[in-house]
Amino acid sequence: MIRMLGIETSCDETAASVVALDDSGRPRILSNVVLSQIDDHAAFGGVVPEIAARAHVEALDGLVEAALDEAELELRHVDGIAATAGPGLIGGLIVGLMTAKAMASASGKPLIPVNHLEGHALTARLTDDVAFPYLLLLVSGGHTQVILVRGVGDYERWASTIDDALGEAFDKTAKLLGLPYPGGPNVERQAARGDASRFTFPRPLKGEARLDFSFSGLKTAVRQAASAIAPLSENDVADICASFQRAITETLAERVGRSLDRFRALYPDVTASALVVAGGVAANQAIRATLNTLCKRHGMRLIAPPIALCSDNAAMIAWAGIERLRAGLQVEEPMAMAPRSRWPLDEDAAPIIGSGKRGAKA
Ligand code: KG4
Ligand code: ZN
Repeated sequence: MIRMLGIETSCDETAASVVALDDSGRPRILSNVVLSQIDDHAAFGGVVPEIAARAHVEALDGLVEAALDEAELELRHVDGIAATAGPGLIGGLIVGLMTAKAMASASGKPLIPVNHLEGHALTARLTDDVAFPYLLLLVSGGHTQVILVRGVGDYERWASTIDDALGEAFDKTAKLLGLPYPGGPNVERQAARGDASRFTFPRPLKGEARLDFSFSGLKTAVRQAASAIAPLSENDVADICASFQRAITETLAERVGRSLDRFRALYPDVTASALVVAGGVAANQAIRATLNTLCKRHGMRLIAPPIALCSDNAAMIAWAGIERLRAGLQVEEPMAMAPRSRWPLDEDAAPIIGSGKRGAKA
């Protein structure tokens, strides 16, 4: 039996959780508490790093206590403390990692620094029986990536966005249409009653051999369409949202479809192959339906963990800690590890052409 305390503070959710792996190898979430800061940031239309860091400081101790209480455990009962060490907003990362370090040094428990993206990448093994290798589509407010997951700590990035993350594209579109933050769920709601064929928005990078994504051109096209017909009626807003969402689903179908082709060609003998989807945008039903159809066509399984475990949470961090512990993959001097605002899962990945970044994008 392994019991792991997890701490997550990399963006605008403060979270703590205890996850156990019983002797028969079955994982169990004993507690999973998340405090969203959405209300603190809503007035600014996006996450304000300073406000986020302060809110983490105020909430974290209480959340850790609540997670232990709910699991009916004390700190001395856990086998390790896993905390997100990056990538993310540096202020929040410092709060979470330093708290974990203090608790580890006071209790003598091992500290396991975890890459936030690895947490997302391994969640499917907490919720479903998924064997390596599999393909991960991570779509959140900060990340849009396709990653080949070969094993714990063994990742190859196949695609990333050269500009906006997918969730960011939803949020920016919502903002320019006057819809409240966070935009994704509101755009989806509007899209459901709109006419998706009214506007033709671009499908960026379509036809290019690379597997990367680009969403900023789409956002610009939405802005131009909106200003051309302003002031917008309620139906105009719904039609723009529906047309925007259609451009997104078609783009994903084309891009992700080619990643699935590549996976099938690389692993022709893997019969139970799977596409795992993670990140807050995975809540979108139209996107889920698109991926479902795509997977069926490729003879692959689509695994979408429950929404609460797709968006940011600490159970995924505790679980990644357990996976690392049992794989014997601990960082050499965890107490000396500094938080990293950028920390790509695939450290060897080449910089993304067109991203304007010197290093690989996290
Ligand atoms: O993973 P997540 O909870 O947090 C971070 O990115 O840190 O993802 C949040 C993102 C936001 O951009 C939000 O607008 C988007 O996920 N999102 C959605 C939906 N629900 C959340 N995007 C599209 N459709 C949704 N239903
Ligand atoms: Zn995340």
